[in-house]
Amino acid sequence: MPVLNTMRTSFFLTLAAIGSAIAQRPANTSICDYYTTALFGNSNATNEYSLLVALVNTVVIGNYTKPNVGVRVPGILTPGLYNGVLSDILPFFNGALASSNRGGSSGVAINFLDDGGAAPLMKSMPAYTTTSNQYKLMTHLYQFFGSLLGCSAYGSTGFPAYSGSASMASVHRFMDLDPTDLGYFIAQVALAAASFGVADTDVAAVGAALQSLFGYRCAPPTTVIAAQGAQLQSVCEDDTCPLAPNATCAAYPAITPAMDANATGAATASMGTGVGAMTVTWNETCGCHMTQPASNASFSVNMSPTSTMSSASATATGSMTQASNAGVGMREGLGALALAIAGVAFVL
Ligand code: HEM
Repeated sequence: MPVLNTMRTSFFLTLAAIGSAIAQRPANTSICDYYTTALFGNSNATNEYSLLVALVNTVVIGNYTKPNVGVRVPGILTPGLYNGVLSDILPFFNGALASSNRGGSSGVAINFLDDGGAAPLMKSMPAYTTTSNQYKLMTHLYQFFGSLLGCSAYGSTGFPAYSGSASMASVHRFMDLDPTDLGYFIAQVALAAASFGVADTDVAAVGAALQSLFGYRCAPPTTVIAAQGAQLQSVCEDDTCPLAPNATCAAYPAITPAMDANATGAATASMGTGVGAMTVTWNETCGCHMTQPASNASFSVNMSPTSTMSSASATATGSMTQASNAGVGMREGLGALALAIAGVAFVL
């Protein structure tokens, strides 16, 4: 993929130069356009798309660009702590859970790492081919976040418009995501942006927007992708998620816990009695996934305009090499990664 290879070269060359530019984004320039220019010299469809590839790939697998500005990103495929609670969302992506909504009344298991997994992502590609689950998910994420971040070339040649499902509530319906999983996901987006030198105020704005749009239960229909109009967008649908202002819970289907992909019908019946009451977690003691009652871990959200994000403990120690991420999808290094993420907290 020549475009992406070109991106890698220019990205690495210009990354070191952004330090002086990051604090001055004009209000009328989008985050996407501003940081594309800072990193690539100018903002066009190719460069904007390249920024989104680098950002989303980093969210998924952790740091792979070298160097970065010293912010360590574990990535969503690696378990870690969020507000002191362990989050492990890999099983939603590798087919271990029957949690994808493919139109039926229950979730189905799909492996979204079916086309090279981390390896092509580390080459700034979505996948090795264009026909896989992995390719579809990754390209949809580039498009979706490109729209969210205001890329001016979004929808033009070189930056295709989002072509995935319109309702985020529907996409994530069978995942029963709770504030810890959602918070961990958003934290990875924030860390990935920070790792490219995005200014704290812009990182905080992105985190606040994601939390506001997707982090509340029963949110009324909202337009995220302009061409798709107002849709149900709550991704955090577990009953431990904070309730949205003007909540419209009746518009949302009942939540069912995400099931192990190999669960039997009997298991389904016994777990289905407590709607939203079960959650799958990673247990450090046994080194296994456990299905257990949802935690009542507290999660406070303050929507004040003076939003800040604290990521001090995550910004400390040098860059991460590609080699240190080679074990994506495995669980070694959990302790170190947990330490890295433990201090990440949103105050939105
Ligand atoms: C800010 C929060 C989030 C946003 C904006 C978001 C956005 C998206 C988008 C745009 C897609 C592609 C949909 C499509 O291809 O039609 C997607 C799919 C997916 N997301 Fe999320 N997501 C979020 C949080 C999460 C979390 C916390 C998980 C954790 C498990 C997750 C797991 C998935 C999975 C497994 C898919 C593939 C589903 C499928 O194609 O069946 N997402 N997400």
